[in-house]
Amino acid sequence: MAVPDQAFDHPRLAEVYDALEGSRHDLDAYMAMAAEFGARSVVDVGCGTGCLALRLADAGCRVTAVDPASASVRVARSKPGARQVDWVVGDAPSLVVERPGLAAEMAVMTGNVAQVFLTDDEWDRTVRAIHSLLVEGGRFVFETRVPAKRAWEGWNGPGADVTVPGVGRVSDDYRVTETRTDEHGDVFVSFRSDTHFHADGTTLESHSTLRFRELGRIEQSLVRCGFHLGDVRDAPDRPGLEWVVVATRRSLHE
Ligand SMILES: C[S@@+](CC[C@H](N)C(=O)[O-])C[C@H]1O[C@@H](n2cnc3c(N)ncnc32)[C@H](O)[C@@H]1O
Repeated sequence: MAVPDQAFDHPRLAEVYDALEGSRHDLDAYMAMAAEFGARSVVDVGCGTGCLALRLADAGCRVTAVDPASASVRVARSKPGARQVDWVVGDAPSLVVERPGLAAEMAVMTGNVAQVFLTDDEWDRTVRAIHSLLVEGGRFVFETRVPAKRAWEGWNGPGADVTVPGVGRVSDDYRVTETRTDEHGDVFVSFRSDTHFHADGTTLESHSTLRFRELGRIEQSLVRCGFHLGDVRDAPDRPGLEWVVVATRRSLHE
């Protein structure tokens, strides 16, 4: 199973994740797409603290939500309405084993999830697993940042600074530690985040690497793993910066 970053798997960091993220207007687009596609069952891969899974369940969808970070899933399970969601600690391939015959109508990856898979092999295994979790014609929707926009150039420096009930003031800052571009133009960005808990003076660090994939390579991988690239949309809250990819599961006979 995938090994998640501390940012999601350290209990203290998972507890303050939602507060540091702030408003989640980014999820509105996914709620709208679930309605547009008439999806009554959804798999949320990399559900984190469960913000979207809970909204979907509240709207009447049957939701299975999976994430390898047990601390984040613990936070999700503690939220109001959490009993309506089937929470699983794991990743897409382990979900295939744990929930055989799931047959969902839509699978989603929000936030950075599609960018955490650094090798083609890891990504393909995940996309193939999602293929087998969906009904024929089911949608796989995910967002990924456009490499040419070089978002990481704006990441160095202070991030959020919030007061969390029961925890006190929490702030974070980021430092990009390495960028590397492969022969196809995909960019790998490593960064460090430090989260400061001002009440007791603790600082917790987390290290991450994200892969910024070129659209052509995304399409090739989807086709290789049993999908059609249906549509590439704009993220309404970050116009021009991200691709929101809508893929459709092909029939096994195509
Ligand atoms: C930036 S968070 C986004 C969480 C959530 N989707 C959201 O929008 O709030 C990225 C999530 O990807 C999860 N993750 C890391 N590796 C993963 C994998 N191999 N499969 C699924 N999720 C993974 C992390 O644990 C983390 O919860």
